[in-house]
Amino acid sequence: MTQGLFISFEGIDGAGKSSHIEALAAAFRAQGRAVTVSREPGGTPLAEKLRDMVLHEPMDALTESLLIFAARRDHLRCVIEPALARGDVVLCDRFTDATFAYQGAGRGFDAKVLSILELMVQTGIAPEADLMREPDLTVWFDLAPEVAAERLAGARVPDRFEAQPLEFFRRVAQGYADRAAAAPRRFVRLDAAQSRDRVWQQLFSVFTAKGWLK
Ligand code: TMP
Repeated sequence: MTQGLFISFEGIDGAGKSSHIEALAAAFRAQGRAVTVSREPGGTPLAEKLRDMVLHEPMDALTESLLIFAARRDHLRCVIEPALARGDVVLCDRFTDATFAYQGAGRGFDAKVLSILELMVQTGIAPEADLMREPDLTVWFDLAPEVAAERLAGARVPDRFEAQPLEFFRRVAQGYADRAAAAPRRFVRLDAAQSRDRVWQQLFSVFTAKGWLK
């Protein structure tokens, strides 16, 4: 049976990952793979309710982190693990690196607590009981916060994160850089300041180099 593949996509708001995720899903499907496209926080009816709260209701960083990890647990149980068990390619718009970047680096919340929650939520869910489920690959769309802010300006009514000042996104960007440095084999960095075509070419070549796409 085909082995499942779990790929997450990360970057600050405005880095432009969403359209590439759809294109990648189409490329995998064209080559006969079943694809599950999902997002975090969200991806299940319960997790989407939690997402709505996290994006719109005032709360402190611990509450925010607990709700995001609760959403993640439900998403893993109901969508990600069953899809991987079927052999799907799972393309997930954000995963736990976002929590370390936004709640940890952005909000200044304790990364040690996030690591404990990560372990609790992502272990005991895969068929291998002691495995902590993580993406096989994380594609990081790296973009200067100033450029991202220009791209987002006036695009839509900002949520609780998009409404944050530039300084917040500088910390989030640094948070992603730190996560990438700590897991260089899992992360691939794309320079998201390039043209959309160029970013797509690079993204595609990452997947062909791994033998996942032809
Ligand atoms: P999205 O707009 O890319 O779907 O993401 C929703 C927002 O949620 C985005 O601003 C980042 C934020 N977020 C966190 O703060 N922590 C997390 O763990 C995740 C997954 C998203």
